[in-house]
Amino acid sequence: MEIAANNKSHWAALMLCSSALIGCGGGGGDDGSAQTMQTAEQTELAGIIDSLGLAVSPLSGRTVPNINDPLPQLGKKLFFSKSLSGDQDVACASCHHPMLGGADGLSLPVGVNAIQPEVMGEGRVDADNLPDVPRNSPTIFNVALWDTSLFWDSRVESLGKEAGQNGSVSGISTPDSGFGVADSNAGNNLVMAQARFPVTSDEEMKDTTFESGETNDSIRDHLAARIGDYGEGSGELATNEWLTAFQTAFNSSDGAATLITFDNIALALSEYQRSMVFVNSPWQNYLDGDTSALSDDAIEGAILFYTSTDDDGGGCVNCHSGSLFSDGQQHTIGFPQIGPGKGVGNDDDFGRESITGDSDDRYRYRTPSLLNIAVTAPYGHAGAYADLNDVLRHYNNPRNTVDDFFDDDELCDLPQFENVSGCTSLYPDSRQNSFRALNKLDDEQDDGTSLFGNININGNERNQLEAFLNALTDPCVTDRDCMSSWIADEVADNPDDNVLIATDQFGSPL
Ligand code: HEC
Ligand code: HEC
Repeated sequence: MEIAANNKSHWAALMLCSSALIGCGGGGGDDGSAQTMQTAEQTELAGIIDSLGLAVSPLSGRTVPNINDPLPQLGKKLFFSKSLSGDQDVACASCHHPMLGGADGLSLPVGVNAIQPEVMGEGRVDADNLPDVPRNSPTIFNVALWDTSLFWDSRVESLGKEAGQNGSVSGISTPDSGFGVADSNAGNNLVMAQARFPVTSDEEMKDTTFESGETNDSIRDHLAARIGDYGEGSGELATNEWLTAFQTAFNSSDGAATLITFDNIALALSEYQRSMVFVNSPWQNYLDGDTSALSDDAIEGAILFYTSTDDDGGGCVNCHSGSLFSDGQQHTIGFPQIGPGKGVGNDDDFGRESITGDSDDRYRYRTPSLLNIAVTAPYGHAGAYADLNDVLRHYNNPRNTVDDFFDDDELCDLPQFENVSGCTSLYPDSRQNSFRALNKLDDEQDDGTSLFGNININGNERNQLEAFLNALTDPCVTDRDCMSSWIADEVADNPDDNVLIATDQFGSPL
């Protein structure tokens, strides 16, 4: 009781402090020289940072692997090997490249049957020029920081959601076990559990002919046998030096059938991805005390981000909370639904509902992290918005922005679609599906279940928010040298002659 009361008064004091423009803390007034050097906005932001307890390291209390350790190194080789796909033409990196923000630069991914499997970003197409994967490829950066769930619809989900544990403590439900049920094969954490699924998807990696109609476990076992060169997979790779790589990584002299299991493949893949922590952004530097790290615009943007819509802010922190900038929950936002959809309605995607079976969850998606957001365009679960300005216009007025999107055929301005003939009639139900999601948002706002307030920000404030969002990006992620430890080398990381050395559409290596 006493503790609660103390906390409450402490909180109240901080709230007062955050709303005061000057004289926060201390004996009040203008006594401290450090304070007098702050602008009013810096002081306001300092109050927000204090009251919300933002000045913590995103890594606090977590252990993450080092990319130079043997297991992440094996994981890198596997992540870049096309041998994990049915027809040996797609690697994990084909949709999650370190130099494309841990994603693919496309609205919707092109997985199997790309005409030029090495090409990534614009120019990665299959024979019909249309993407077959229904959702935007999310970044794999900072996947070690998720404690609730992975995927846009959270279908790989920690049952206990313990803070700081990456899903390692309680069970993890997956598409194999079903919603709310622990998958006994999920492995150590959310990232390992997730790594078992891309290889089972026809559109992403498997293709239709490989292990056609077989169970997920048969697909995984076959791929492990291929990598291990034993049983049903023996001889499938013309070159195969994987056993040495596994023996080194696991410091083991076991044979392939024991060592090269899909569990160990998933483990290595997850340790590689979990080593990709990129959180040294200007914003983090600011939190760490470098008040010169943010521009004036970014500071104003931060204030808008953390201020409620009732107080004329953006209310973004309602959902994009914590150092990952996500509450890990699912919400209706109503970004346009484009592409082939998830097998419901006509090209529609019901989001979280398809996992829980609860119609309240229709059109809800997991709040994305905003770390490194500058390098992960296009945005949203279907990659409909090309840039942050579009996203911010949507928040200010969802209906008008979605209307404009369809009135102006903005789909056909997206690089991936601009050269597709008949683009304007590709997904005829797209507008209607998108408006169903907006109607759902209205309903939620009417009945008070939405955390999406009525945002009223002008063009200048949008620019300020954009400056803040851009300041959430770690400069390492745009620096090839800084990223090189995470990118497979054509010689050192190529045990099967199937390494993906990705290029842009003009043939320049990424
Ligand atoms: C064809 C493109 C493609 C390939 C290949 C691919 N992915 Fe993905 N990945 C996606 C898409 C799309 C999603 C989101 C799907 C969804 O949420 O429904 C995703 C989601 C993820 C996530 C979840 C991220 C988050 O924040 O929720 C991780 C981790 C991931 N992929 C890792 C991998 C690994 C490991 C492999 C290789 C075994 C792989 N991916 C292969 C496209 C791809
Ligand atoms: C009600 C919860 C909620 C609020 C409030 C909210 N967001 Fe979001 N945000 C989401 C969800 C959910 C998505 C994904 C929606 C989708 O893909 O359809 C998203 C997507 C985004 C994206 C695209 C991320 C990506 O990787 O594609 C950005 C950028 C973004 N939000 C910024 C903001 C800003 C800035 C604000 C405040 C003006 C804000 N959000 C307010 C829940 C929220």
